[in-house]
Amino acid sequence: MDRPEIILAPGPTPIPPEVLLAQGSPLVYHRGPGFGDIMREVTGRLKELYRTDADVLLMTSSGTGALESAIQNCFSPGDEVLVPVAGFFAERWASLARAYNLTVHTVDFEWGQKVDPARIAEALAAHPGTKAVLLTQSETSTGVIQPIQALAAVANDAGVMVVADVVSSLGAVPFAFDEWGIDVALGGSQKALSASPGIAFAAISPRAWGVSKTATNPRFYFDWAAYAKFAALKDPENPWTPAISVMQGLQAALRLYFQDGVQAAMARHQTLSIAVKEGAKALGLDLFGEGLEDNWTVTAIRAPEAADADVICESIRRDFACVLAPGQGPLKGKVFRIGHFGYFSELDIIRGLSALEMTLGSLGHPVKPGAGVAAAETVFMERR
Ligand SMILES: Cc1ncc(COP(=O)(O)O)c(C=O)c1O
Repeated sequence: MDRPEIILAPGPTPIPPEVLLAQGSPLVYHRGPGFGDIMREVTGRLKELYRTDADVLLMTSSGTGALESAIQNCFSPGDEVLVPVAGFFAERWASLARAYNLTVHTVDFEWGQKVDPARIAEALAAHPGTKAVLLTQSETSTGVIQPIQALAAVANDAGVMVVADVVSSLGAVPFAFDEWGIDVALGGSQKALSASPGIAFAAISPRAWGVSKTATNPRFYFDWAAYAKFAALKDPENPWTPAISVMQGLQAALRLYFQDGVQAAMARHQTLSIAVKEGAKALGLDLFGEGLEDNWTVTAIRAPEAADADVICESIRRDFACVLAPGQGPLKGKVFRIGHFGYFSELDIIRGLSALEMTLGSLGHPVKPGAGVAAAETVFMERR
C-alpha cells in the first residue's frame, strides 16, 4: 500500500493538516480586503519573528529568489562584497553575487566549521572597499549555526552592511534583526514555519532602503520599491499575482506557530535536535560539524564504514518511506542529514531513528535494535 513519505529533511518540512486545509480552500482574490487581511496578518507575525520594526516584504518565490532580490536591489556591478564560506549555501551567496558581476572576496573555512568573526574583521580591514557581508545563519549543508550576531557586530564596526540568509533559521533558532544590526534578512515559507514552498520574505533596514535607491543592478520582478508601494495600499497587495494558496497556508501555519509561541517552538527544535544527536551516537555514529549544541535545525551525521551516506538515504527511503537529506558538495556520500525543525513531534523523530536503525543493520553496520530509539526517548523523558 502506498503511504505518504515521512520527510525528515531540512525543508520542505511536514505540513500540518490545518495548513493543508487552508491552502486547499477557495482562493481569496488577491486584490482587495480579504487578501489585504492575510497580508497584514502574515507580515505582522513575520515582523515579530524577525524581531523588527523594519519593513518585511513578501515575494512569490523560493528562498533563492529572496537572496537574488537582495543582490539586485542593494548593489551595482563591481561592488565589493565579502562572503565567509563554510558550506554549500554560503557558496550559493558567492555564486549569486558573481552572476551580477559583483567583486566577491571569500574567506574560506573548512565545511562544518563555525565562521570566526576575528578572521572576518581581518578580511574587512584588508578589503576596505567592501560594501556588505553576505552571511548564512543556518548553514543547512553542515547543520552549523553561524554566529551572525558577532559577525554582524564586526561588519557594523567596519561600517559595512549585513545581508543575512535566514532561510533555514528564521523561527528555528534565535534571531534579532534590529538588535543585531542586520540590514537585510531573507527567509522562506517551507522551513521552520512548515508551510508549502513558494513565499519568500525580505526584512529591509532603513540603511538598505537608502542603498537600494542608488544601486544600479537590473531588477523588475523583485524590485523592492514595487513591493513596498503595493504593501502600503489600504488593503495591502503584491505587485504581481502572488501564490495565493501558499499565502493562505502560511497564514494558518503562522497561527499554529504562534499558538505555542516562539520560545516553545525553539525549545522543541532544541529538544528534537538533542534527541537525534543522542540517538545517532547510540547507534555508534559520529556527528559532523562544530558547535553541535547550537544547531537545532539539522544534524549532519557521518556515514559509518559499512555504508555510503547516499546508499543509506536511498535504502531508508525505499524500505521505510523516510526521506533523509544526503550530503552536498564535498560531503556527498560522507554525511547524511536529519532535519528537526518545523512541524515535527517526538514520535516523528522516534520513527526516523527506528527506520535508521533497521536500515543501518541491513547495510551491515552493527546496531543493537532499539538503541537509538531508547537514547532519544531518554532525552524526551528527561526534558518533559
Ligand atoms: C540556508 C539556505 N539558504 C537558501 C536556501 C535555498 O532556498 P530555496 O531552495 O527555497 O530556494 C536553502 C534551502 O535549503 C537553505 O537551506
